[in-house]
Amino acid sequence: MSARGTALVTGASSGIGAAVAAALVARGYKVYGTSRNPEKVNAPVRGVTYLALDLSDEASIEACAAAAGDVDVLINNAGESQSGPFEELPMDAVRRLFQLNVFGAVRLSQLLLPGMRERRRGRVVMVGSMLASFPLAYRSSYVASKAAIKGFALAARREYAPYGVGITTVEPGSIATGISERRTQYVADGSPFRAAYDTMLAALNRNEANGISAEKVAAKVVSAVEAGRPRPLYAVGSNAPVVFALRRVLSRGAAERMVARRHGLR
Ligand SMILES: NC(=O)c1ccc[n+]([C@@H]2O[C@H](COP(=O)([O-])OP(=O)(O)OC[C@H]3O[C@@H](n4cnc5c(N)ncnc54)[C@H](OP(=O)(O)O)[C@@H]3O)[C@@H](O)[C@H]2O)c1
Repeated sequence: MSARGTALVTGASSGIGAAVAAALVARGYKVYGTSRNPEKVNAPVRGVTYLALDLSDEASIEACAAAAGDVDVLINNAGESQSGPFEELPMDAVRRLFQLNVFGAVRLSQLLLPGMRERRRGRVVMVGSMLASFPLAYRSSYVASKAAIKGFALAARREYAPYGVGITTVEPGSIATGISERRTQYVADGSPFRAAYDTMLAALNRNEANGISAEKVAAKVVSAVEAGRPRPLYAVGSNAPVVFALRRVLSRGAAERMVARRHGLR
């Protein structure tokens, strides 16, 4: 084990996960990163050992946890970005999203937390989304999945604090990772929501393209990992400090309108 300990970063084949894995290597951790196809990772991060993980497969989650062994830092980063009008989201797509963004991360955490508790040290970071704090129309399944994983973290952190294990959520805003190209979309033919959906999507893609770098998110994740006592919630990107401050003074309705307008919606 390296002096700093062992970290496992899910979804380390691209974007935020790759940047977090690189930042943890630079900080002296032994780092495992995951991909569904570890042998086909486009630009493997130097110093990272890749493990196979498909969060939609229970056996794969168990095999990954076993292969990683004692993990001190778990970064639940892998995720799917999904969008579509609420009534047009196929239930199998919603279930797949929750399996990946919520249940898979919960299960992996359940497998690794007992060791952290026994060793009396550890960190678990959920990579959420600012959209969970600032819900956006036509992103309901994604917003709900990120709110759900934050809920697990917020409640469970109280169970682990006495054991020196910190659980937290980092909510990124718009980050330029190319995730827009990988977003799954469900809009019915002839959808009455088409025009509003397209308006929202154009703004979303523009915001992502103009977003901050994955490296800035990684720096925030590392600061959460290395905090003596991680805060319940961190946010980075999309002017997070200003936007969260505004949210404290605005009514819920006004905050909702602010988010809608940023995406061209009424
Ligand atoms: N980019 C943004 O603007 C933004 C904003 C807020 C939150 N986030 C969140 O940040 C996280 C990373 O996003 P990103 O922008 O870096 O996206 P990304 O580049 O598309 O990375 C997603 C990662 O998830 C992995 N993955 C996908 N399906 C999987 C599955 N079934 N099992 C296991 N791993 C799977 C992918 O690995 P393989 O394909 O190699 O398996 C990939 O490494 C996500 O949770 C996302 O929701 C992103």
